[in-house]
Amino acid sequence: MSKLSQTLFTLSIILIITSCYADSSNTTSPSSSLCPISLCGNIFIRYPFWIKSQTINTRDQFCGYPDFGLECSKSNKTIINLPSDTYYVTDINYDNSSITLVDIDILDQKCPRVRKNVTLSNLPLSFSKLDLNLSFYFNCSSYPPYLDPIGCFRVSNDEKLRSYVFVDGDEGEIGYDNWKCEDHVVVSVKVDEVSDFVGSVDDLINGFGSAVKRGFVLDWRKGFEDCAKCENSGGYCGYGQESKNFTCICGNGSVVAKSCKKGTFLCF
Ligand SMILES: *[C@@H]1O[C@H](CO)[C@@H](O)[C@H](O)[C@H]1NC(C)=O
Ligand SMILES: *[C@@H]1O[C@H](CO)[C@@H](O)[C@H](O)[C@H]1NC(C)=O
Ligand SMILES: *[C@@H]1O[C@H](CO)[C@@H](O)[C@H](O)[C@H]1NC(C)=O
Ligand SMILES: *[C@@H]1O[C@H](CO)[C@@H](O)[C@H](O)[C@H]1NC(C)=O
Ligand SMILES: *[C@@H]1O[C@H](CO)[C@@H](O)[C@H](O)[C@H]1NC(C)=O
Ligand SMILES: *[C@@H]1O[C@H](CO)[C@@H](O)[C@H](O)[C@H]1NC(C)=O
Ligand SMILES: *[C@@H]1O[C@H](CO)[C@@H](O)[C@H](O)[C@H]1NC(C)=O
Ligand SMILES: *[C@@H]1O[C@H](CO)[C@@H](O)[C@H](O)[C@H]1NC(C)=O
Repeated sequence: MSKLSQTLFTLSIILIITSCYADSSNTTSPSSSLCPISLCGNIFIRYPFWIKSQTINTRDQFCGYPDFGLECSKSNKTIINLPSDTYYVTDINYDNSSITLVDIDILDQKCPRVRKNVTLSNLPLSFSKLDLNLSFYFNCSSYPPYLDPIGCFRVSNDEKLRSYVFVDGDEGEIGYDNWKCEDHVVVSVKVDEVSDFVGSVDDLINGFGSAVKRGFVLDWRKGFEDCAKCENSGGYCGYGQESKNFTCICGNGSVVAKSCKKGTFLCF
């Protein structure tokens, strides 16, 4: 190869590389013109979350993960619908991709009675390492006499039905053995909120209420499935509400099917 063709060859490689990656500068903070940033109460809502009442102006697209649409209530509370139930979003941490949720039904209950296990189905969410599960058994008609029930759930002085709380997994050691109970619900709380209680059934009975009201943490997965290709190409994942299909929104605002990388033939 001559010097000239060597130089040309090198130049064209550089050109391909820069054009392939031209858009892949920063996926963590999209510009607000592409993906709106809004404030609901004291929660910043931005990619991959979005507000259901707002869609990006480019046709009917929204910018964010399909299941991460949030509502901002009249009282400026941020709300998310999971398959199991509806939750307040009390914190979104964009640095470590985590979100704190509180069951909407229990917040004003003196003695919070969670009714449903959290179901994440196939959402790109998982329980955080910061969580610990509490196991509640409600209205049990059989139980060992020596265990203290949760006082605030007692129905009058009728001692026939009792409710119990344990750190999930510890109940066997403490005496649980297939009691007859009306309901069993596993509730995630933040470890930090109960770390002072976990050694003592009595402290847990007194302390679970405030821990449950402080909620639990979920981590979200970045760039799942189709979305990974798009984010890796510098785009932002979105969804066409009319087309009912995943889309990829590129830095220049255009909407493509999968990836913002240019020459798809030469790039991978
Ligand atoms: C990406 O964005 C973060 C946060 O805004 C910033 O600190 C970082 O320097 C950016 N990285 C690049 C490659 O632009
Ligand atoms: C909600 O937030 C908006 C915008 O910051 C503010 O104008 C409004 O007064 C707030 N509403 C309530 C009920 O706090
Ligand atoms: C996420 O970041 C916050 C501080 O911004 C920290 O308190 C928390 O422990 C972090 N969570 C994880 C799972 O690292
Ligand atoms: C809590 O329960 C959920 C749902 O069953 C499970 O996925 C999660 O791993 C549990 N967390 C801990 C800390 O055991
Ligand atoms: C226990 O049963 C009673 C009577 O059906 C009901 O009113 C109460 O809410 C139940 N308690 C719990 C904690 O589920
Ligand atoms: C919640 O999960 C526990 C343990 O996984 C299960 O035993 C219980 O039946 C579930 N409760 C409800 C109400 O689905
Ligand atoms: C969604 O897009 C995929 C390819 O990106 C295509 O195969 C599929 O037919 C589209 N679905 C609809 C409902 O348009
Ligand atoms: C925007 O960028 C995408 C991907 O890089 C490209 O396919 C599209 O043609 C560009 N659109 C405009 C209007 O420049």
